[in-house]
Amino acid sequence: MAIWTRLIGVDDLADNSGRVVSLRGLTVAAFKVDGRFFAIENKCLHRGGPLGEGQLTDRTVVCPWHGWRYDVETGELELIPTLKVGTYKVEVRGDEVFIEIPELGRK
Ligand code: FES
Repeated sequence: MAIWTRLIGVDDLADNSGRVVSLRGLTVAAFKVDGRFFAIENKCLHRGGPLGEGQLTDRTVVCPWHGWRYDVETGELELIPTLKVGTYKVEVRGDEVFIEIPELGRK
């Protein structure tokens, strides 16, 4: 079962930038691209680099550790698109952005 929780304020991210956000035991890479919000796992498939700290150009974020490139909407690795980091659904509600995450710790 999944729940929706607040990710970030709409104005907390400059347009065309990203940031690492920790919430409810998860660490997520949040991005704002031309006014649209995206969230992906903050863990590069190579060696776990923090994708939320990477340089963002259009919808592509570059891992700050060794340069692997990902689409922040689909989570696809540019070099091998069948490899993906996890993506999360996000939704703007007023001046806040919400994210759908798995409900942790519940059996
Ligand atoms: S850890 Fe991301 S490219 Fe190496």
